[in-house]
Amino acid sequence: MEIQVVQHPLMASRMTIMRDGRSNNAAFRAALADLGAMLVYEASADLQLETFDVQTPVAVADGYRLQKPPIIVPVIRAGLGMIDPALSMIPDAQVGFIGLARDEETHEPVPYLEALPDDLAGQPVFLVDPMLATGGSLLHGIRLLEARGADDITCICMISAKPGVDALVQAGTSVKKLVTATIDPELNEDAYIIPGLGDAGDRLYGPRNIDLNEL
Ligand code: PRP
Ligand code: URA
Repeated sequence: MEIQVVQHPLMASRMTIMRDGRSNNAAFRAALADLGAMLVYEASADLQLETFDVQTPVAVADGYRLQKPPIIVPVIRAGLGMIDPALSMIPDAQVGFIGLARDEETHEPVPYLEALPDDLAGQPVFLVDPMLATGGSLLHGIRLLEARGADDITCICMISAKPGVDALVQAGTSVKKLVTATIDPELNEDAYIIPGLGDAGDRLYGPRNIDLNEL
């Protein structure tokens, strides 16, 4: 798996707003949307193009379009904040959904939604989640995609923790590339990323109220 840590001044400034504990939900959402668009832009650099003739007002020029737009798959909740920025970059992309909640005691992902096409073979997939902590959630998402034949998966995360990246590498997935804005060094005893930004879902949408026993 290739690991691409994208560095850019505009990304660094948005990341700072997201990390800042004083940023309210609206400021956090706006910064996440901007950073999401930039990461999707970077991740798209490997997508295949097809060519066609385009008629300008005065002549014929080379035209280009994506051969196969990727399907965007956010991990709910926090990944939801990356859908609109991804679609602003790739308007003809489809969107699938994976719903996972991390158990606060075990830190294991608890699945509650899977809304994906049956066959993903040959289909580029952008699996998007702002946070990669232990790696459990992303790995669960990857396994769901692979079970549907996905063989062209790119993961896009904003903050990736080193232990989670290591776990992904050791798990031996078919993921081609992880695109991330930073790799933070560690997790705390609650498996939160340090320094991180806290709970991304809560900072986007407010505290969640999911009873994991009812899933
Ligand atoms: C967050 C985040 C990831 C997961 C990462 O979701 O969006 O999905 O934690 O942690 P992991 O790498 O240790 O699995 P969370 O479970 O907090 O749910 P939420 O987005 O609904 O708040
Ligand atoms: N999920 C988050 O939202 N933040 C973390 O630091 C770890 C998991």
